[in-house]
Amino acid sequence: MSKPATHFVCQTCGASSAKWAGKCEACGAWNSLVEEAIVGGPPKGLSDGAKHKKGHRLEFVPLKGVERNLPRRLSGIGEFDRVVGGGLVPGSATLVGGDPGIGKSTLLLQVICKLAAQNRVAYISGEEAIDQVRLRAARLGVADVNCELASATSIRDIVASVDQTDTPDILIIDSIQTMYVDTIDSAPGTVAQVRTSAQELIRTAKKRNFCVILVGHVTKEGMIAGPRVLEHMVDTVLYLEGERGHQFRILRAVKNRFGPTDEIGVFEMTDKGLLEVHNPSALFLADRRGDTSGAAVFAGLEGTRPVLVEVQALVAPTSYGTPRRAVIGWDSGRLAMVLAVLEARCGVTFSNADVYLNVAGGLRITEPAADLAVAAALLSSLTGEPVPAEAVVFGEIGLSGEVRRVSQPEIRLKEAAKLGFNQSIMPKTDNGRKQALTTSLKRIEIDRLSELLPLFQDAPKVKRA
Ligand code: TYD
Ligand code: MG
Repeated sequence: MSKPATHFVCQTCGASSAKWAGKCEACGAWNSLVEEAIVGGPPKGLSDGAKHKKGHRLEFVPLKGVERNLPRRLSGIGEFDRVVGGGLVPGSATLVGGDPGIGKSTLLLQVICKLAAQNRVAYISGEEAIDQVRLRAARLGVADVNCELASATSIRDIVASVDQTDTPDILIIDSIQTMYVDTIDSAPGTVAQVRTSAQELIRTAKKRNFCVILVGHVTKEGMIAGPRVLEHMVDTVLYLEGERGHQFRILRAVKNRFGPTDEIGVFEMTDKGLLEVHNPSALFLADRRGDTSGAAVFAGLEGTRPVLVEVQALVAPTSYGTPRRAVIGWDSGRLAMVLAVLEARCGVTFSNADVYLNVAGGLRITEPAADLAVAAALLSSLTGEPVPAEAVVFGEIGLSGEVRRVSQPEIRLKEAAKLGFNQSIMPKTDNGRKQALTTSLKRIEIDRLSELLPLFQDAPKVKRA
């Protein structure tokens, strides 16, 4: 008997190779290749095989036409509905990723129980027994909701149950890594299993026009295990982020075929599950002490919503040959750039100091507009002088030391005024926009990064170039 055809699949990026190797050639991950049976046998070209089947000719239609306007399914949890682009689209597949224990099951149980008021909903858990799910529902105060519940891991059984005319409107699969297809030899959680399981579920969802939400655990490298292959199969990818020690959880859309991808939803983990946070700025600034050095308030934008957060920096003398740079909540490459620009264009040196940077509250900032706030926090920590009181900071820094304009300054200033700030350190506004900036805030507009130094001018430690 011939040996079944197998290949080696990287469990991190999904690349396959004929031979085993210690390192994946495609993504560089070590020890990630696992032998798996080739699904459906070795690949064949269209003209292979005994009988040549002729393809059907496609019927092209014009781009212009009447689109079907499907009503979206709203859960009433505003933070969730906004992130998915204004409700779940029937027939769509959504992937919710996140670290184990971050709160994915909790969030989805809450969402589905809200959706149950107007939709038929089903929750299939492959990780927890029925009793455990019921216990959680009781704790969340949703135990009397009309939600169909099952504990199953076989995709064949699940598809047989939902591939019906009276199928649920929304189906949750918690989690995709526990599901298996019995035609594949490898263990649940491997690339082949995860990919095939998801494919079957998505195909059924499109056919029967229900929403399927897949829960996916993230590996320690930060990718959905079994992994990027899933991201392009689904319509929407959401990540639930947060530090386990913090109570805040951020739901972030990283891909959305039906809405914008820069939206975030903010939640707070309590003993009654996840609560929506309608005013995240107030929450992120709750523990702020106004008069300490090394902290600057960044007026940021997350999707359509302004979010004010505190950027904290600590510059301390180093005791090592190579100084340390540690960053939480921001990009370390970007910190290196801001340090280099401060050094080269403003003559402020950090070469014999350790630098620590932290975004308070556990939020992760991705906007380049935070550059100027980071620079202000760094200068403030270095000089020991607080950033001017009640000031918000935003602006992007270029390599030649210029401060560049950022999108939507009006919205940022409005939010700052709402929270009681009275001045803003920001890029120069172009004349056309001046009118739009009707705000009570005093604007300190700076064109070059070196103009930031005089704000800390009493500082003896700052060397001028
Ligand atoms: P869970 O939703 O099980 O995480 P995931 O599905 O992402 O693995 O969340 C588990 C954590 O949430 C656990 O550490 C306890 C905490 N939790 C609360 O703090 N309050 C609650 O009401 C619930 C249900 C969970
Ligand atoms: Mg879970």
